Amino acid sequence: MNLVVVSNRVSRASATEPMTGGLAAALLPVVEKSGAIWVGSSGRVREGAQKEPFAEIESLGKGALALLDLPAAHYAGYYEGFANSALWPALHSRTDLIRSSHDDYKSYREVNSFMARALLRFRKPETVFWIQDYHFLALGAELRELGVTHPLGFFLHTPWPTRDIFGGVPHSRELVEAMLAYDLIGFQTDDDRDNFLSFVENDLGLDIAGGVVASKFGMSRCAVFPIGIDPAKFAAHAAKAASHPDVSRLRRSLNGEKLAIGVDRVDYSKGLINRIEAFDRMLTLQPQLKRSVSLLQIATLSRGAIEAYGDLQNQLAKLVSDVNGRHGEVDWTPIRYLNKGFSQTVLAGLYRTAQVGLVTPLHDGMNLVAKEYVAAQNPVDPGVLVLSKFAGAANELDTALMVNPHDIDGMARTIATAFSMPLVERRMRWEAMMTKLRAGTIQDWFSDFVDALQNAHAASAKASGDLAPEDPPVVWPARSFSSIVGNRFH
Ligand code: F6P
Repeated sequence: MNLVVVSNRVSRASATEPMTGGLAAALLPVVEKSGAIWVGSSGRVREGAQKEPFAEIESLGKGALALLDLPAAHYAGYYEGFANSALWPALHSRTDLIRSSHDDYKSYREVNSFMARALLRFRKPETVFWIQDYHFLALGAELRELGVTHPLGFFLHTPWPTRDIFGGVPHSRELVEAMLAYDLIGFQTDDDRDNFLSFVENDLGLDIAGGVVASKFGMSRCAVFPIGIDPAKFAAHAAKAASHPDVSRLRRSLNGEKLAIGVDRVDYSKGLINRIEAFDRMLTLQPQLKRSVSLLQIATLSRGAIEAYGDLQNQLAKLVSDVNGRHGEVDWTPIRYLNKGFSQTVLAGLYRTAQVGLVTPLHDGMNLVAKEYVAAQNPVDPGVLVLSKFAGAANELDTALMVNPHDIDGMARTIATAFSMPLVERRMRWEAMMTKLRAGTIQDWFSDFVDALQNAHAASAKASGDLAPEDPPVVWPARSFSSIVGNRFH
């Protein structure tokens, strides 16, 4: 098998460099180990027609990374426009934040079509394509349009909302119809899959049997594959990071205070305002906690060109400064607020230093920070995870202290409870969560999906009487790749 994985954002960072986004961090180790080709955006754009779309190709462990410069005329409409100002808000149930024009949709489709043409270079008879996330809902349909008959899988890292909410996305029906070109559509949770199927049934009027939809493209199977982490690797990072300067400086600066930690992109889905308000409320309700607890909030800035994100950055900065101004003392600051990223190793060390992990999104596909916080804990003295019931991770990590992020008073009380939880209870809860993490690692997620994709494709091909894929035409001029990728591609 020749696996080609596609996502908008990729990562080439090692464990010692800052990592952006859960998807890229999760895929990196599995691409490295499996020998897959990972295709994504270089983060740069290019003007005019492109003879050679791949800007960079390099090795990545046993696999390779192939990066494209996306078309300059369509990049903003695709990324900031349709993907992040129509799909992202709707997928996180914030239709009030949808701001997207028909030109944005056109650009989104153009970029999906551009990516499809670029992918033809990797087509061999045994190729399997696995597309990631909401940036490429229509990529499968574009590939089929180009005559690709290979297995096509899709995994959505975000939630999928109820059908009325997804119906708020311009062109929603056309997009879901296009998604049915995938042989397998994977979701993080049962609710996400059920919401999607409900849209297919009620808004497209298609029949569903056992999670399988028949459409003009053939059969498409919808199933749940909760994404995991490598808990052993995270635990090893955490132990190793104890001596890292950032981690030891943090420990020294605490003067015996207990610490809560939050690590998020600044995004309205993450519930950061509610979290800070809950911390504020806790200090008001229980003033005896002042000087004995504090919060380290790592908040990496994201999508700043979009108005809703710029507004949130300003609102958060103001709120943190207000809370620190009201509760702070000459020798104590309640909230340390940092707009910078850390490597996975340092993050693991910071997680292990904190007695409480705060993961309180209003909506989240999975949230791997929740899993990483748990895996990084010291087994003999583990911290407590406070987790939103609206994170996908809540399905598995059900012995965390669960909160409703809209209930500020409730969250304030729960954070205080977490700080004072006795060791026996902490260990019991932590061990139960570790058992779940070990039972569903990132390697399991990867191989379960790829196996299911091959089965779904075989079932669909059998049902429609299709034969093996033909030899492909090459759309862009063939060019021999460097020794990095050898003769695996044209
Ligand atoms: O769906 C989740 C995700 O892919 C995360 O991995 C990441 O946080 C985000 O969406 C994409 O963010 P960005 O716009 O920075 O690539």
